[in-house]
Amino acid sequence: MTAEATGRGTAGAPSGPSVVTGPRRLPWLGNLPQFARDPLDFFVRLRERGDVVAWRLGPQRALFVSRPEHIGELLTGIETVFRHPELGWAFTLVLGDGVVTSEGAAWRRKRALVQPAVRPRQVRTYAATMAACAAGLAATWQAGQRIDVRREMLALTQRIAVRTLFGVDTAGREEVIGAAMDVAQRAIGDEFRGVTLFLPPWVPTPGRRRLRHAVRVIDAEVGRVTGERRRSGADRDDLLSRLLAARDEQGLPLSDKEVRDEAVTLYIGGHETTGTTLTWVWYLLSHNPGARARLGEELKRVLGGRTPEFDDLRLLPYTEQVVKETLRLYPPVWLMTGVAKEGSTLGGRAVPEGTVVWSSQWSAHRDPRWFPEPDTFRPERWDPRGEPAAPDHAWFPFGGGARACLGARFAMVEAVLVLATLAQRFHVDLGPGEVPAEPRLTLQPGAPMGAVLRAAT
Ligand code: HEM
Repeated sequence: MTAEATGRGTAGAPSGPSVVTGPRRLPWLGNLPQFARDPLDFFVRLRERGDVVAWRLGPQRALFVSRPEHIGELLTGIETVFRHPELGWAFTLVLGDGVVTSEGAAWRRKRALVQPAVRPRQVRTYAATMAACAAGLAATWQAGQRIDVRREMLALTQRIAVRTLFGVDTAGREEVIGAAMDVAQRAIGDEFRGVTLFLPPWVPTPGRRRLRHAVRVIDAEVGRVTGERRRSGADRDDLLSRLLAARDEQGLPLSDKEVRDEAVTLYIGGHETTGTTLTWVWYLLSHNPGARARLGEELKRVLGGRTPEFDDLRLLPYTEQVVKETLRLYPPVWLMTGVAKEGSTLGGRAVPEGTVVWSSQWSAHRDPRWFPEPDTFRPERWDPRGEPAAPDHAWFPFGGGARACLGARFAMVEAVLVLATLAQRFHVDLGPGEVPAEPRLTLQPGAPMGAVLRAAT
C-alpha cells in the first residue's frame, strides 16, 4: 500500500479502496521501461496486482484502476473531478479546436453543436450510404480472391466516412481527402512512438513534413467542399449539412474553421476505429467457425441475400453481438486517462491533484471476474436472455460519461451493416496463425491479415 498516490494521511479520510504498489520502479524512469516494452501486458499485470495500483511513468504519479465502479468514477468524473488529458500538438494541428481537443466551456458548446449530427435519428439517414458502400465492395469481391483484410476494411470505412461526411457527390475527391486524412492520422500516431516522442514540435522530421503537407491538403479540400455547400444552400443527408445547420445558444452558426475542425474530428474519430474493428471481426470469425455458422444462419433467415437496411438492425441481434464481442477482445481505444483536479476522490479516497488515473479497455475487458473464459470469443455472452450481464463500465470501448464517444451509435450501425452485407456473401478465411495486437494510437493487428475469400453457402 502506498500513501503517495492517494493522499492518504494528507487530505480526506483514509477510507476507500486499498492501493497496491505497482511493479518495482527504476530511479527517474519509474515503470516507464515496463510500460514501453509491452503496455498491454503491463496493464494486465497491474490489474492482476489489485483493483487500484500506484505506479510511475517517469516523473508522472499514476494510479491504475480496474474495477468497473472505479472506471465508472473516472469516466463520469471527466470534466468535473478529472481533467481530460492533453492530446499534444500533433492532434491539435490536425483536429484544430474540435470537440476532442477542447475542454470546459468550449468543449460543452462544441459537443452540443456536434451531437445533433450523430443522434440516432440522424444516423438512420447515413445507413443507406453505409450499406451501399459495403454492397459496392461485395460486388468487386470474388470467391478464391486473396485480400489484405485490413486494407480492404480501411478503404471501405474511408469511403463511408468521406461520403457520410461530405456527401456522395464527393466520390471523385474521396481518395484525395481520405488519403490526406490517413497520412495525418498515421503521423499523429508516429508522434507517440520511439524517439519522436521526445523531440520538440519544431524539429523537422520527414514524418512531420508529411503531416504538415497532409493538413494543407485537408484544409483546402474541406474548405472547398464547405464553400460549395454554403453557396448552393443545399440541405443534404450528410454530416456536413448538419454541422452547417447547427446553431449555438445565441443562435450563431459554426464558422468555416469550426466546421473544418469538427468534420476532421469526426473523420479521424470514426474511420480507423471502425475499420480496425471490422478487421478484427473477420479475424475472429475465421478462427471461430461455430460463431461464423450462427451468424450465417441469422443473415440468411433475416435478409435472404438482400442488402440490409436500417430497419433490419433490430432483427440482427447475433450480428450485433459479434461486433460487441470483437470490441471486447480488440478495443480500438485501449487506454483512457484523467488528471486529478484539486479535491478529486476515487472510491471515497482523496487523490492528490495532478495524479494521472489510468484505465485500460484491453485489460478490463479480459477480466475473468466479469467475463468468464475471457480470452474466448463468445458472442453469446451478450445475449440478454442468456448469461448475467457484466457490470456497468466493465465493457467500455466507447468510453463513458460526459465525454463518451459521440459516434458510438454511428459506429455500431456501420459495423453491423457492413458485416451483414459482406458475411452473407463471403467467408473470409485467414490462416490459422495468431495475429498479435499492436497498441498504436488505436489497437492494430501486429501482422499482415492476408485472407482468401470463399462464397458463403
Ligand atoms: C468502433 C469505433 C469507435 C470507437 C471504439 C470509439 C471510441 C471512442 C472513445 C473511447 C472515446 C472517448 C475518448 C476520450 O475521452 O479520451 C471517443 C470519443 C469520440 N468519438 Fe469515438 N469511437 C468510435 C467511432 C467513432 C465514430 C464513427 C465517430 C464519428 C462519427 C466518433 C467520434 C468521436 C468523437 C467526436 C469523440 C469525442 C467526444 C468528446 O470528447 O466529447 N467515434 N470515441
